[in-house]
This record gives sequence, structure tokens and C-alpha cells, in this order.
Amino acid sequence: MNSLDYNQLAAEYARHRRPYPQLVEFLAESAGIGASSQAMEMGCGTANHLAKLQQLTGCTALGVDPFDDMLKVAASHEAELELRVGRAEEIAALDLPEASLDLIFSVDMIHYVREPARYFAGAFKALKPGGVLCTATDSEWIIRNRIPVAQHFPATIEVELARHHPIDALLAALEDAGFVHGQQRLFESAYELTDATKYREKAFSSLHLISDEEFETGLASLTAELARGPIAANNRTCAVLARRPA
Ligand SMILES: C[S@@+](CC[C@H](N)C(=O)[O-])C[C@H]1O[C@@H](n2cnc3c(N)ncnc32)[C@H](O)[C@@H]1O
Repeated sequence: MNSLDYNQLAAEYARHRRPYPQLVEFLAESAGIGASSQAMEMGCGTANHLAKLQQLTGCTALGVDPFDDMLKVAASHEAELELRVGRAEEIAALDLPEASLDLIFSVDMIHYVREPARYFAGAFKALKPGGVLCTATDSEWIIRNRIPVAQHFPATIEVELARHHPIDALLAALEDAGFVHGQQRLFESAYELTDATKYREKAFSSLHLISDEEFETGLASLTAELARGPIAANNRTCAVLARRPA
């Protein structure tokens, strides 16, 4: 799994990244999050999802990310967030009180973690019995069907497949850690793409992982398609829900 320096990406990320519609509501409902609940987002980045969850429910919200500059942007939300530097594999170093959290979630983070088992084991300990661990990530189908990325930057498909854990592998690791599987839910939004700025600025990490030539060729064909009119684009994630048995 390729790692990127998100300190360098923080500005573009903040400009272009939006929460997946309905994902936060789904998390709040699935884990029964309210004002007295404790929630944590691992790999929160600029904390779009965590801030929305905190404001929606009034919960106590902890955001963890390895990159300071992402956390600086996260701190600019109006929501009340505790933010800490940390990594999923080193969740034990956060010294979270055992059985204290109602929800731990991550969005587009798990592909950076070589050993999800260590993260899942630590999350299991930190969750209350009945607590929810949600891992929102890209399935193979999502990766192959991204519009416009998969069409115009096809080299990203192999890059993404190589760094993303297959959903079945995540399910097996969750079961090994003691979780019972809840459900998988696809979140998607369709939108009209009218200009190529976020691609030109490489707001998607996979664009940093293809060659300059592949990037320039893709940008040229994307720009040409946009010159003919807006593109019906999509934004998808697969939320894998698991629960610590009550
Ligand atoms: C694609 S961004 C997603 C950020 C945020 N969850 C969101 O949905 O906007 C991936 C995030 O994972 C973080 N990350 C990378 N490696 C990580 C690791 N080993 N443990 C925890 N977070 C990590 C990055 O710093 C970055 O903020």
C-alpha cells in the first residue's frame, strides 16, 4: 500500500473533499450515537465526516490522523473535536480506555494500513460491547467503475486494486479480531462535472501514483470531453459495518 505525504496534499484536499452524502447519518443510526456517545474517526484527515457527526449528534468526537497539516484544517471546523496525531496500526499507543467508545470509523483510510489486523484488534478493545466499527473503502467494483477517473486515467485502476484490501479480506480480518459482521452498504452520489480543476490539482491520491505521461494523457482527454459538455460523474464508497458482540 503506497503511502502519501498528506501534509503536502492538505490544501487541495480541503478545497475539494466533501463528505459522502448519507454516510454520517448511517453511522449515527447504526451505532445509536447521541449526545452522551463517544466516537472516533481513524484517519480523519480534514475531519469532514467527524465534524458532521459531532454537529448532528452532539457526541464526544476524537479524530486521529498521522499528518499535522490535515489536523490543522480539521481544527478549523466549528464542531467540537479532539484531534490527535496517530496511526491505525499504532492504535494501542493512543491509550484509549478499554470498552469506552460507541463508534470507531474510517473513510478511505484502510488502504494505507498494511496490517488491518492490528488496527481491528485495538479497535475491538476500545469499543464498548455492542459498539460499531465501520470501514468505508473502495471495492473492486467501485474502483473499476469510477467516472471519470477509471475512463480517463485507466492506470489508476491497477494502482488502486494493488493498494486496496479486497472486501472479503477485510471481513476475514474483522472476524479474526472477534467482530460480528453487520452489513455492507454502498453510498453513492451522482454529480455533474463541469471542469477539470480537481483533477488538474490532483485532489485524488491515485493521480499522484501514476506516471506523468499517464496523468497528462488523461487530463487532456478529460479536458476534451468536458469541452463537449458536463460529465455525469460518480462518487462511491462501500461501508463495511462490524460490531463488537454485546
Ligand atoms: C483519503 S484521506 C481520507 C480522510 C478522511 N477520512 C475523509 O474522508 O475525508 C486518507 C487519510 O488517511 C490518513 N492516513 C494515512 N495513513 C494512515 C494510517 N496508517 N493510519 C491512520 N490514518 C492514515 C491520511 O493522512 C489521510 O488523512
